[in-house]
Amino acid sequence: MLELRHVSKSFGQKQVLQEISLHVASGEFVSLIGPSGSGKSTLFNLIGGLLGPDAGEIYLNGEEITNKHGFISYMPQQASLFPWRTIIENVLLGQELQGKKDYELAEAMLERAGLGDVIHAYPHELSGGMKQRVAFIRALLSPQSLMLLDEPFSALDEFTRTDMQKWLLSIWEDYEQSILFITHSIDEALFLSDKIIILSVNPAEIKDVIEVPFIRPRDGDLLLSEEFLQWKKKIIDVIQF
Ligand SMILES: Nc1ncnc2c1ncn2[C@@H]1O[C@H](COP(=O)(O)OP(=O)(O)OP(=O)(O)O)[C@@H](O)[C@H]1O
Ligand SMILES: [Mg+2]
Repeated sequence: MLELRHVSKSFGQKQVLQEISLHVASGEFVSLIGPSGSGKSTLFNLIGGLLGPDAGEIYLNGEEITNKHGFISYMPQQASLFPWRTIIENVLLGQELQGKKDYELAEAMLERAGLGDVIHAYPHELSGGMKQRVAFIRALLSPQSLMLLDEPFSALDEFTRTDMQKWLLSIWEDYEQSILFITHSIDEALFLSDKIIILSVNPAEIKDVIEVPFIRPRDGDLLLSEEFLQWKKKIIDVIQF
């Protein structure tokens, strides 16, 4: 479904990404982890067509989309809500751009995310974590078959975060979208993903790709299992090496 071939990117003298090749299969959940500043968000900007690579190509379902935007649903690291639109209007934006709106579904999703009381409020009336959830739902509601999520739950407390992770999994299992997900949390990556791509830094190269073996559906007990801890240790070893 998504394929990057030898993608490189520099900003001025600084090379950020070097020859990144990766693949996301249809319906697959793939996480990207790597140190802060390694170039994860830059990689998303390239896939989303907001930036152009210096070298390499990006394909979606066999078609080249390098330098093109509008083909994927993208939740950027900074929740960018339009201040002049209410929450429900913000959430419906992705669908609006594609010419179809499902108001009831949007409302149900906002309610499910604990935002039922604020659907007619404006972004400046919401907390940072609430805005993050709004941006997340906007990405979920966009009709594209690939979703890029850049640390979607980083501003949430542990409890809300676990809840949102489980919710994301349940939605993803129903809709069969492909997801590329950036996180700093090894636990989160292991709990959610089919595959974890580990990046190095300066410049970022792919250090390792881990296939996550846990069967689905997954529940919270998995995080406490011996097997989970062994995989976590394996990933820490890759990152530190
Ligand atoms: N538009 C830009 N112009 C110049 N430098 C940039 C630009 N965008 C990113 N960079 C630089 O590229 C490097 C990678 O940034 P990026 O935001 O992709 O990292 P990241 O892996 O997402 O980090 P974090 O985990 O902190 O979000 C950083 O050194 C950053 O300063
Ligand atoms: Mg980033």
